[in-house]
Amino acid sequence: MSRKAAEILAAQVIAKPDCVLGLATGSTPVGAYQQLIRWCREGILDFSHVKTVNLDEYKGLKPDNDQSYRYFMNQNLFSGINIRLENTHVPDGAEEDSGKACRDYDRVIEEAGGVDLQLLGIGHDGHIGFNEPSEYFSKGTSCVTLAERTIEANKRFFSSADEVPRRAYTMGIGSIMKAEKILIVVSGEDKAEITAKAFGGPVTPEVPASILQFHPDVTLVADKAALSKWKESGR
Ligand code: F6R
Repeated sequence: MSRKAAEILAAQVIAKPDCVLGLATGSTPVGAYQQLIRWCREGILDFSHVKTVNLDEYKGLKPDNDQSYRYFMNQNLFSGINIRLENTHVPDGAEEDSGKACRDYDRVIEEAGGVDLQLLGIGHDGHIGFNEPSEYFSKGTSCVTLAERTIEANKRFFSSADEVPRRAYTMGIGSIMKAEKILIVVSGEDKAEITAKAFGGPVTPEVPASILQFHPDVTLVADKAALSKWKESGR
């Protein structure tokens, strides 16, 4: 799964060396990032003209905090490839003024020229980025309150659930949908139910990832366990 995801990302970089990649954190993309690092070290991939925009960041965490998504990206990808750090973007978790943080990040995405390929994972509740189930699909970057289930899922990276920040900045669903291409990577039986709902169920903001059914160029890369319930549903 990671190998396939890495191939799709690598193909984008080879086809358009100055592309804009939308990137995600979490456990799912780590294997793909490791493969990209290997290919870069072997001279197969060149990231020197690539720009990146990440999906999200915890509000209140500075970039040097080892739980921040900026730190995660530096550790898991950027430090291993020949990308220029100034070409990599993550929402500013240290910005206390939410309105400013969101406006600034929308400008970053716009100035980058839009996203060529957006990599996504999916939360157990169907979130993409940190866009949690809601009554509407968000448009641009917003400051959100994390759902209890997300806090539970993400506490594994912290010493306790209490330490997980309650708020985060996330790219909006509208911005995600503007990407030319989307690559969503899903693994594990625990994601089987939400995968079936998101891709085989109705499009609803209650399952934010379901909006991807309306995107013209989505690739879902998943392992068998994650696909098991969708297959069973026959849709
Ligand atoms: C991370 C992100 C999230 C994750 C999702 C799945 O930047 O935007 O939507 O993709 O929570 O996380 P993992 O891969 O840890 O299961």
